[in-house]
Amino acid sequence: MYNPSLHQKINTILQESNIDIARNDNLFYVRMIANSGTIYDLYKDIYGNHPKGEISFSRLLDVIIAAYVTRSATLKTKDKEKAEKGIWFLSNEIAGMSLYVDRFCGSIKNLESKLDHFNKLGVNLLHLLPVFESPAGESDGGYAVSNFRKVDERFGTLDDLKSLQEKMNEEGIYLMQDIVLNHTSRQHEWALKARQGDVKYQDYFYMFDDSSVPDEYDRNMPEVFPESSPGNFTHVAECNKWVMTVFHHYQWDLNYTNPAVFIEMLDNIFFYANLGVDVLRIDAPAFIWKQLGTACQNLPEAHTLLRLIKQCAEVATPGMAILGEAIVGPNEIMKYFGTGLFAAKECDFAYNATQMALQWDMLATGDTRVMLNAQHELLRKPFGATWVTYTRCHDDIGLGYDDYMISDAGFNPYEHRKFLKEYYVGSFPGSTATGALFSSNPKTGDARISGSLASLCGLEKAIADNNIMAIEIAIRKILLMQAHSFFIGGVPMLFYGDELGYCNDYSYLDDPGKSYDNRWIHRPVIDWKKNKRIDKPGTVEHQIFTATQRLIGLRKKLKVVSDFKNITWLPAFNFHVAGFLRTLGEDQLFCVFNFSDRPAYLSWKAFKQQPIHSAVLYDHYTDDDFEIGTDQDFLIIDPYGFHLLQPVRE
Ligand code: GLC
Ligand code: GLC
Repeated sequence: MYNPSLHQKINTILQESNIDIARNDNLFYVRMIANSGTIYDLYKDIYGNHPKGEISFSRLLDVIIAAYVTRSATLKTKDKEKAEKGIWFLSNEIAGMSLYVDRFCGSIKNLESKLDHFNKLGVNLLHLLPVFESPAGESDGGYAVSNFRKVDERFGTLDDLKSLQEKMNEEGIYLMQDIVLNHTSRQHEWALKARQGDVKYQDYFYMFDDSSVPDEYDRNMPEVFPESSPGNFTHVAECNKWVMTVFHHYQWDLNYTNPAVFIEMLDNIFFYANLGVDVLRIDAPAFIWKQLGTACQNLPEAHTLLRLIKQCAEVATPGMAILGEAIVGPNEIMKYFGTGLFAAKECDFAYNATQMALQWDMLATGDTRVMLNAQHELLRKPFGATWVTYTRCHDDIGLGYDDYMISDAGFNPYEHRKFLKEYYVGSFPGSTATGALFSSNPKTGDARISGSLASLCGLEKAIADNNIMAIEIAIRKILLMQAHSFFIGGVPMLFYGDELGYCNDYSYLDDPGKSYDNRWIHRPVIDWKKNKRIDKPGTVEHQIFTATQRLIGLRKKLKVVSDFKNITWLPAFNFHVAGFLRTLGEDQLFCVFNFSDRPAYLSWKAFKQQPIHSAVLYDHYTDDDFEIGTDQDFLIIDPYGFHLLQPVRE
């Protein structure tokens, strides 16, 4: 909203900060003036009634200006280049990989010498799982941060990270890093001070004198890790108080009703932005606002805070996109892209966790109907925002899509999920998967699934059985899963090791800092000697790597795969086949995937209901031409096979 006194205030501050509003910094000035009214309104929504609200708002403005002033010339140029591309992150030319620096190659320094691996594969966006300081025995894989600005010695130094970023930038590789917004480690300076009785810092967390309020909260709050960390509060002996710990007992939830917390964390966000982060992954945003009597997830204030962050970033560090890591149901996830006037103005990216889980659903059942029942929700994503698409990540697979999607397909939701869990732990007769149940909750019957892409697709068992046929089928499943996630729209994010078929790693069981958390089963330690097999035709690694490389290459070649809200699902003429059409201007790409273990017969009618400009389709993956047949003819798709078909121009 137009706010003259605010504009005047900003003009005064900017003049004092030596900002050249007429020339060099004019774009920044325009952004600041244009967004300031919204920033103020969003801020006021949350902190309007806080006694320190006004003072903190001035501090907020200072933080934004300081972020811009300290941003390097290189990054400012990069911001401009990105802006010239339109919405840069909708591009088909981006493909990502998420990895643990230490498990991938030991250290940040070593990673510099591994950039060839990504260039060869076609990956040009690296998500480094958290590298900032976190206590070794209680790190949650780096998600329990004790210092947001110090790189953990296990990985190297801040200078190593800066040097890596520069090298990546030279090679055209984007950087993605986390801000762990919801909590800190109990070893963070703020938590240490709170433990010593410092009330200022006790107010940075949700701390209570006795367990009565915590008990009240607990009545409505679900448990994230019911096996290893039941409940949502932990008693702190030093100060004899209870603190909210939604995740592990060593991760203390930050109190965002306190504006000082918000501003400190915004400052940390800008610290990462100015390290050259291209995509900022906001960890667990669904949890950042708590209110007694609610589940303390997905609350409206959490969205307001995310919008506020986005608006501030757009002013100071506009080239940095924001990924909200909300792993929530299909209806809730849409809201993270922003709603109403804020459509496409909240998170630029969200994980398509629903589609990810539904891919696993299709692979187990050979049936696409539950997946199709979710699409009317997922298609609501606004233009201008996009997905991270994936098959696996460092976390578990949750089956959090809605019951009606299952029952409308004719299945009983309870039995269906039970089947999926049994299938992926390998106990269902005929299953080839090797996975594990994660966070089983006997009170609710919920459980999620851990396991690597390869093991869940049957490769681990096939290799143990020395069964060549089964190995081939597992590889087909792996590539089917990857291809589906690469072409559906959004930026594909591979998980390290999956490009080479790494199976489960059971060594975590010997480490007391990890053994309570079986997500480590699918977080492999990379063996670079074994990786050399990618150059040896006939090996599993070669087959998976070259096919993955080919798929990424195709994606980069086909502009039609950019995410312009340009996907149409084909009618389900054969329920074993997931099929969609991507369209951009005159360009079309039909993508069809057979999720069953038998050949699938797909009527050409499925294609002909779309306006196709040719009688011949060229398959980019196999290099074959297919003539479109009559309504009585079929395209026959191999078991776990797929085609990427483009009408041949006549
Ligand atoms: C996110 C991370 C997960 C972590 C959790 C708590 O969901 O992806 O690994 O356990 O946040 O920080
Ligand atoms: C972590 C957990 C996942 C949970 C999520 C919430 O990712 O692994 O199961 O849903 O946190 O952000």
